[in-house]
Amino acid sequence: MIIRKTAAELEKMRSSGLLVYEILKKLGDMVSEGVSTYDLEAAAEKMIADAGARPAFKGYFVPAAGERYKYVLCTSINQEIVHGMPSSKRTLKKGDIVSIDTGVELNGYYGDSAVTVPVGEVSEETGRLLRVTQESLELAIEQVRAGNRLYDVCGTVERHVTSNGFSVVREYVGHGIGTQLHEEPQIPNYVDRKNENPRLKEGMVLAIEPMVNAGQPDTRVLGDKWTAVTKDGAYSAHFEHCVAVTSNGPWVLTRP
Ligand code: MF3
Ligand code: CO
Repeated sequence: MIIRKTAAELEKMRSSGLLVYEILKKLGDMVSEGVSTYDLEAAAEKMIADAGARPAFKGYFVPAAGERYKYVLCTSINQEIVHGMPSSKRTLKKGDIVSIDTGVELNGYYGDSAVTVPVGEVSEETGRLLRVTQESLELAIEQVRAGNRLYDVCGTVERHVTSNGFSVVREYVGHGIGTQLHEEPQIPNYVDRKNENPRLKEGMVLAIEPMVNAGQPDTRVLGDKWTAVTKDGAYSAHFEHCVAVTSNGPWVLTRP
């Protein structure tokens, strides 16, 4: 069942969303050569505590990993797709890209967003990967309207990515969000005929998160049980926003 939120609930999700936005803005500003992904983690943890919120990822049980996640951020560098873990030993280098993904719970409601940030100058192809991934999210957001269907969102990401010569990851998907970090429906970044195709209705909130590989779509998980990487070693980008269906069209909760 897809849980629809009242206007009052959406206002609470707005607060969570804006906190996530402020965190990602700060971390994006911190990104530069020599900064470790644990530096980002520490800054995020402090901002969440100062806001009186709770990190959504830390302690979150993921069946595929068989354990609880230990950090407030996922920091995934270059060929890492998602679920990279912050480490004081992982320092950013010029030409890297780092996906920073975080979620919070504030007053019972969740926010979840991700950006992929270049470290200094990146190659032209990597720049194009970031641009196309972000565009695919923006085009998908435009589809978050009452009367449209979920496949409109999924298919929009898929078309933009594949027509630009990149590939969408199939093993990880977006999700509904509300009083739980992950609610129905699952939101693949491609039209999955085995997945449901509900009509979108006012009050639904979708966490749309294209994960786009510069090379082939195939993934594998490292021995740490968490870090998902591209099988071919090509770079991967990830952007995410929470978007509410309203009578005025899409409302992106995770940005001003
Ligand atoms: N970033 C993932 C999502 O957007 C969730 C992370 S799983 C966790 O759904 F274990 F890191 F929390
Ligand atoms: Co998410």
